[in-house]
Amino acid sequence: MSKFKEVKRVTTHTMKAMKDAGEKIGMLTAYDFSMARIVDDAGIDIILVGDSASNVMAGHETTLPITLDQMIYHASSVVRGIKRAFVVVDLPFGSYQGDSKAALRAAIRIMKESGAHGVKLEGGEEVRDSIERILSAGIPVMGHLGLTPQSIYKFGTYTVRAKEEEEAKQLLKDAKMLSKIGCFGIVLEKIPAVLGKQVTELVKCPTIGIGAGNEVDGQVLVIHDLIGISKDFHPRFLRRYLDLYAEIKGAVESYIADVKSTDFPNEKEQY
Ligand code: KIV
Repeated sequence: MSKFKEVKRVTTHTMKAMKDAGEKIGMLTAYDFSMARIVDDAGIDIILVGDSASNVMAGHETTLPITLDQMIYHASSVVRGIKRAFVVVDLPFGSYQGDSKAALRAAIRIMKESGAHGVKLEGGEEVRDSIERILSAGIPVMGHLGLTPQSIYKFGTYTVRAKEEEEAKQLLKDAKMLSKIGCFGIVLEKIPAVLGKQVTELVKCPTIGIGAGNEVDGQVLVIHDLIGISKDFHPRFLRRYLDLYAEIKGAVESYIADVKSTDFPNEKEQY
């Protein structure tokens, strides 16, 4: 039973208190009003308006094409659907790398125009200036280390990161730095479980894993994967709770058959 279920609004303080109390944090993505309402009503702690919208909503192969305006559109739709969850929004590719003033402008637009509660961005030391500038404006920032999909063309593949000692050492260093400068949380994507545990023990802020094992402070999944809408994606870390692709397809097939046979609408379904 959750000690934090009755919390009216999840804040960065709630998340830290959850880590300190040893209670796991639940995080899921959402990109629209209707899904956000369901996920929030179910009691999720954090909703991520992920740039994975580029894949699952827009059908792009990578997260790179999605724009700041599109992220704001998704985020404002999500914010209108929630009552309790903390809403964090991905800064899209190109909006924060290499220019901390541009990063702050992008983060301010997200906060002002969507009503979200914080932003997430990918990377460690190389984006430190951007993170510090955003934090200095009072905007909560979440880090993201390990597999960082905005750098897919640098990595070349979506395989597990930081298996080698050098990369693992750098990840630990980056995590320590992100926590020290004031990030309220760090997403750890596709890294060995032992490294997920090490980072979690090292940093003060909560760690949220996706393919980072069970000894992190919370877990995140893309909602379309969890409910089985994205049927061709089968990473080891994914647990599917529904096969909605088949359910929706079946419902649509039944509807088409009913329309063709004139079974729909029947007498009770008309005026
Ligand atoms: O964009 C996204 O959905 C993410 C999660 C995979 C953590 O960043």
